[in-house]
Amino acid sequence: MNAPAAPAGARASDRRSRANAFAARVRRDFPALQQEVGGKPLVYLDNAASTQKPDAVIDAIAHYYRHDHANVHRGMHELARRATEAYEGARRKVARFLGAADPAEVVWTRGTTEAINLVASAWSHTFLGEGDEIVLSTQEHHSNLVPWQLAAARAGARLRYLELDDEGRLLLDRLPELLSPRTRMVALSHVSNALGTVNPVAEIAKQVHAAGALLLVDGAQGAPHLPIDVATLGCDFYAASGHKMCGPTGIGALWGRRELLEQMEPYQGGGEMISVVEREYSTWAEVPHKFEAGTPNVAGAVGMGAAADYLTGIGHAALAEHERTVLEYALDRLAAIDGIRLFGPPAAERCGVVSFLLDHAHAHDVATILDADGVAVRAGHHCAQLVMKHFGVPATSRASFYLYNDTEDVDRLIEGLDRVKAIFG
Ligand code: ALA
Repeated sequence: MNAPAAPAGARASDRRSRANAFAARVRRDFPALQQEVGGKPLVYLDNAASTQKPDAVIDAIAHYYRHDHANVHRGMHELARRATEAYEGARRKVARFLGAADPAEVVWTRGTTEAINLVASAWSHTFLGEGDEIVLSTQEHHSNLVPWQLAAARAGARLRYLELDDEGRLLLDRLPELLSPRTRMVALSHVSNALGTVNPVAEIAKQVHAAGALLLVDGAQGAPHLPIDVATLGCDFYAASGHKMCGPTGIGALWGRRELLEQMEPYQGGGEMISVVEREYSTWAEVPHKFEAGTPNVAGAVGMGAAADYLTGIGHAALAEHERTVLEYALDRLAAIDGIRLFGPPAAERCGVVSFLLDHAHAHDVATILDADGVAVRAGHHCAQLVMKHFGVPATSRASFYLYNDTEDVDRLIEGLDRVKAIFG
């Protein structure tokens, strides 16, 4: 017997009520969200660009600077010991967050961009040669394109591209024909920053390894939203940024298989990354320190460790359920607008990112009018010009959701878009 319609509607409305109660609780942790913009409570929908910070992260950084700061791994005194423990303790937290069994496989970087540059530079130095091939996709953020263009130009290697379908999914049935005996590296995003598409990394990893190549995953938009277990994903490198997962800017992590990290040349030279320095040559410290030349961003690491703990405390299942509810509501309401073009796959295949265009209104004008209403979205090519080219548009407006957003935020977005339509006709 068919279920009556009312309970389904009631279930959806229950889920929305739960999501809004969840967001209301979470929002109390985020001081920056307690403000007005344009005379209205701020609605922050630019989370794919950067997320806001909970007190737990701000307090961890302040505590570190107030009590424990010194240089790490160098001093023989109490504060140096505390700073080193804070730095290495944060590495253990981020390793746990990424499902890495060995914290030595986690290298601190300035963010995802630097993590990918590190591999594109240090790994390519030894393992990429003339005529070798790197497979990328047209879904990538510039940070997972340009470093490989530079590496390919240095080595005389060739770039090959996996294309997208009309909804912004990778055309994975074309992967086998792109993988050749010359393929050395496949570098793909876990989640598209411009479309929200979630890519099936574990399935891709099997094919890439069967072809004898390595898989690097740009996890800038994956780590904040999905439970990450690098062992289950089966990739060889995973890159993440602190600031996209409630942590500070200027810090990120590269996870890499230990044997690969050990075979790679250092990325930069300087203090702390050496074992012995002679006049003509040096030898290197063990991983991960081999890749961490100079005084590191200790406070950033502490903040990213606190962010990992904060998100673990919330729980990935609760986070995913919440984001799915808000995303589905947003897609339903946006799809009902006349003259809107939505980009990306159905809700079940994406994280909380919605790119769209309104007839007769430029993406930037949409963002400016929304901003006047206290609604923050991003407009532009989202550092993903190949995605824009795929869809034949110069730019989109993008709303991106996180754990503190609720369906009322979506309603404010829709009201703002109604205003845009009234202005542009
Ligand atoms: N990668 C960031 C974004 O997608 C900056 O907005």
